Amino acid sequence: MIDPNRFLSDLHKLRSFGASGVGKGVVRPAYSEPDLAARDWLASQMAEAGLTPRWDAMGNLFGLAEGPSLLLGSHSDSQPTGGWLDGALGVVAALEVARAARESGGPAISVVSFQDEEGRFGVTTGSAVWSGGVSLMDADQLRDHDGVSLAEARSLLGDRVGASVDAAQFTGFIELHIEQGPTLDTSGEQIGVVTDIVGIRDQVITLSGQQNHAGTTPMALRRDAFQGLSAFNARLNDRLRNVVTPQSVWTIGHVSISPNASSIVPGQVRFSMQWRDGDAARLGRMQAVIDAVLEEVATEMGLDVEKGQMLGLEPVAMDADLRARLEAGAEAVSPNKWRKMPSGALHDATNVARLLPVAMLFVPSINGVSHAFEEDTHEDDLVAGLQVLAHAAGVFAQ
Ligand code: GLV
Ligand code: MN
Ligand code: MN
Repeated sequence: MIDPNRFLSDLHKLRSFGASGVGKGVVRPAYSEPDLAARDWLASQMAEAGLTPRWDAMGNLFGLAEGPSLLLGSHSDSQPTGGWLDGALGVVAALEVARAARESGGPAISVVSFQDEEGRFGVTTGSAVWSGGVSLMDADQLRDHDGVSLAEARSLLGDRVGASVDAAQFTGFIELHIEQGPTLDTSGEQIGVVTDIVGIRDQVITLSGQQNHAGTTPMALRRDAFQGLSAFNARLNDRLRNVVTPQSVWTIGHVSISPNASSIVPGQVRFSMQWRDGDAARLGRMQAVIDAVLEEVATEMGLDVEKGQMLGLEPVAMDADLRARLEAGAEAVSPNKWRKMPSGALHDATNVARLLPVAMLFVPSINGVSHAFEEDTHEDDLVAGLQVLAHAAGVFAQ
């Protein structure tokens, strides 16, 4: 039988790996010491539950049931400063449903914690490689913001790595996740059944000008890379207005200025440019605007532009049958307190959809906050999510 207390206790145990000491936040980026320690603990829990733990070359950790099974899970790595539930909820709920299924002679359920969903190296890297969206050889070339390559990070897995995991043994994939936005919290509803997941584009851009003395270089003669980024950002917000909807989003989230000193005109700025939308064509139109504004600013300010590899995922729709099972579960567990909704966050489910029917459900995020230490969800909502997941998997609660 599903045991909400065991589930909540496991969730708090997982939080202890990389606990930030600020609220319930965690610092558990992919391949960090706490990430690997958390995965080792998860592997031991999978084994105790009667599943066979298997690590693939990326460090995706599977807990395999025998024979054909439904795959449940999410990811257990975090953002550089992240919340305790993003990914962790789906993994621990999967473990509880699989364990309860085995105890009660229920259906075969396998569990997964994908690696680097949070994109230290790319975008949902572990599931992208597992699903064949990116080859391991190409992924190995990706570097994090400190210049560490994925190949170097993967070597920390050591002898944990086993054979690759064949997706043919799975009948489908369901991912429980926190919403990470304000919709359910605002409406007072308990469950969101996901209709589709937005697409994303992500690129590192470098603007180069001339490093120079901040006291002697006249303003008119400067080729200041930061002024370039600043003008680009301001113009972009204005110019994108012609092509976006209120659901379109764009973010410059990582910036590194060189040499980053008070008395030096910055010679170079390197920044991440990310944008998301539910419509693939609009993603393309946004890209055209980004490229045009970049070109315009660079020409005006005498800067060189270098664009890194374009990473991305297309928007995907959820599988109708699995979705119907979640909707039935939501109506049983939280009657009239659930809705259908799109996902503005990216998820491993997007990649898994290349291989299997997939579906997702959300529980509310308090104040809509995520990717932050303050991220949290009321316990009764966490348990409701667990129960809907169990219902959809054919494992019934007490
Ligand atoms: C995943 O964490 C995302 O950035 O949406
Ligand atoms: Mn996540
Ligand atoms: Mn996340």
